[in-house]
Amino acid sequence: MSTSEKVLFILESNKDIYISGEEMAGQCSVSRNAVWKAIRDLREKGYDIEAISNKGYKLKGSTDIISAEGILAGLPKELNGAEILVYDSLESTNDKAKELAMKGGKHGTVIVAVTQTGGRGRQDHSFYSPEGGLYMSIILKPEMLSSTDSRAVTSFVGGAVISAIQELTGIESYIDGINDLYVEGKKICGILLEAGSEFDSNTLQWIVAGIGINFDSDISAFPKDVKERASSLFAPGQATITKNALIARIIERILDCQP
Ligand code: BTN
Repeated sequence: MSTSEKVLFILESNKDIYISGEEMAGQCSVSRNAVWKAIRDLREKGYDIEAISNKGYKLKGSTDIISAEGILAGLPKELNGAEILVYDSLESTNDKAKELAMKGGKHGTVIVAVTQTGGRGRQDHSFYSPEGGLYMSIILKPEMLSSTDSRAVTSFVGGAVISAIQELTGIESYIDGINDLYVEGKKICGILLEAGSEFDSNTLQWIVAGIGINFDSDISAFPKDVKERASSLFAPGQATITKNALIARIIERILDCQP
């Protein structure tokens, strides 16, 4: 981890609390000047960091920038070694996760993208993936699951997302169709599970669970056929939680209690 990443992890782990430059320098084993430079770099990237002399630095709760450090800060200690890869843009997080799974990517590896240029849904549908949404895929290894029955894994992943949303926002969603999540009759989330197997021995090798949530998306700018049926958890700029927090809770619910 670079000093900026370490400082970001400390700030994300202590949201709404002032942490002194000295304390951060000690935790990162660097000089106070290096911490100051890291704060400057983070501000340049858009992080809203308050500084008060004699108190230190504080990341404002309203900052909603997806990062591996922000996600890791929201995970329980047992999971804070999880492999989390965050991209500004990908064609599809499922495609990236599948590529890694085929190369031996481990159980619990998470791929997140701020936007997708070729997001995919079931049955070759596209999944519109502009900024404001949450797009993630997680690699699951069959040996870590108590059931690999497709219906069991499908409903378990859907249930994990429903729980995470409910716990953090109080919003009640429900599954309709194979694994779409709805709130008050409108789709807020699509889930796509894909798997790879060794064909000749009929051995399942990996599953990739891809989750796309309209988080604080501008539904009015969605393509016409989608916007009539879609909704978003929050209106743009009105979210009461961060994307990092929801991603972390989904990871926790998926990795904590597998089928
Ligand atoms: C559907 O609605 O049919 C399922 C949509 C699944 C979308 C998610 S977004 C993250 C992951 N990457 C993809 O390309 N698709 C899934």
